[in-house]
Amino acid sequence: FTVIMGIRDQWCVSFLQFLLLTADIISTVEFNQSGELLATGDKGGRVVIFQQEQENKLQCRGEYNVYSTFQSHEPEFDYLKSLEIEEKINKIRWLPQKNAAHFLLSTNDKTIKLWKISERDKRPEGYNLKEEDGQYRDPNTVTTLRVPVFRPMDLMVEASPRRVFANAHTYHINSISVNSDCETYLSADDLRVNLWHLEITDRSFNIVDIKPANMEDLTEVITAAEFHPNQCNTFVYSSSKGTIRLCDMRAAALCDSHAKLFEEPEDPNNRSFFSEIISSISDVKFSHSGRYMMTRDYLSVKIWDLNMESRPVETYQVHEYLRSKLCSLYENDCIFDKFECCWNGNDSVVMTGSYNNFFRMFDRGYQQDMTLEASRENSKPRSVLKPRKVSTGGKRKKDEISVDSLDFNKKILHTAWHPLDNIIAVATTNNLYIFQDKLN
Ligand SMILES: *[C@@H]1O[C@H](CO)[C@@H](O)[C@H](O)[C@H]1NC(C)=O
Ligand SMILES: *[C@@H]1O[C@H](CO)[C@@H](O)[C@H](O)[C@H]1NC(C)=O
Ligand SMILES: *[C@@H]1O[C@H](CO)[C@@H](O)[C@H](O)[C@H]1NC(C)=O
Repeated sequence: FTVIMGIRDQWCVSFLQFLLLTADIISTVEFNQSGELLATGDKGGRVVIFQQEQENKLQCRGEYNVYSTFQSHEPEFDYLKSLEIEEKINKIRWLPQKNAAHFLLSTNDKTIKLWKISERDKRPEGYNLKEEDGQYRDPNTVTTLRVPVFRPMDLMVEASPRRVFANAHTYHINSISVNSDCETYLSADDLRVNLWHLEITDRSFNIVDIKPANMEDLTEVITAAEFHPNQCNTFVYSSSKGTIRLCDMRAAALCDSHAKLFEEPEDPNNRSFFSEIISSISDVKFSHSGRYMMTRDYLSVKIWDLNMESRPVETYQVHEYLRSKLCSLYENDCIFDKFECCWNGNDSVVMTGSYNNFFRMFDRGYQQDMTLEASRENSKPRSVLKPRKVSTGGKRKKDEISVDSLDFNKKILHTAWHPLDNIIAVATTNNLYIFQDKLN
């Protein structure tokens, strides 16, 4: 982070806070557009929202505290297909704030919900017919009229479901993305992308459909999709074959024929049984500027210029040392882990997770990278994180960890970067860590 602050001799990230989300596995992490709110979703269908405390004398930067917790999704059963529908929250997206309340979309495999989160610190008192305890008075006993008044009460944050967008996805929803027109959003599953109006729940438009006429011909699935940050007609979707398609909704109602196809030619020397599996894209994110997009595959992060389809402009190896371990990672299913990736506020640094609760940052300008660890043992508030190093053959140096002792059960799939500040949120299995750059 110090790179961003202009000091070049070392990177410093200090531990700020550790938030335990009791027992449930975190499945998504998302800041709102100003970074003051941070929402997490978990496997149990719960959404927990944290709020950044206002700056005070002791700390120059606010920490995050729980603001609201609510049950977004419940387990359901699809009787037609005899399938259980998990309550796990796959994605959360904030809507730009328009009034005092906050709105967010949350989705599990099948159903998207729009939630309103609002504050209440006053309550009406002194009704003529309603008593304080909720009982109603006999109107005949009312002899004088009074004017109800608002009395202050302890701040209450309420979450209420506003809309439920259901029955439009046959397969599992992997992405939702709010359009820059602030009126529509998209949802993507394994084979289709749908477009919704935020006000209309009983109808969506299918804008991509890659389902083959015969399911036996299926060779590719959609893995992620996102709207361009400022061109409301443009969106991208990525696939299990490592390609990204950019679509223009002005061209046709059904965007099956993409406007651009981004794909890196395969290096014939690297072909193996695992080539296709590890090239599957687990996440795609536009830069804030809208000029680039970033994709994450199993071993790397790639940055693409929207004006160049033939190859990425930058490639960062996340954990290249795992290339020789793909066989065992296939056997223990880790090779199918879906790592996400994120940009910092001005697109100069990107971040993504790895195993052993390591996460990686890549400074694009300086071509520097760093490995850090989210762990309770070495995290005292305000302590500076020591960069970690994995030894890749040869003699292991002091402080290095060997590839064979990495713990593949500890993984960081979900990370988020505060849009305006050097604060990051990193989710290990059921803990959330907040880090900030040291200079603040
Ligand atoms: C990003 O912002 C930091 C200040 O926070 C600045 O030092 C750095 O040069 C910026 N990078 C780019 C690419 O604009
Ligand atoms: C994010 O949340 C904060 C805290 O309530 C709010 O002040 C801010 O306006 C929100 N930002 C956006 C862009 O929604
Ligand atoms: C091929 O493998 C080498 C290392 O074995 C790696 O550096 C290179 O990036 C790979 N090429 C592609 C296109 O993945």
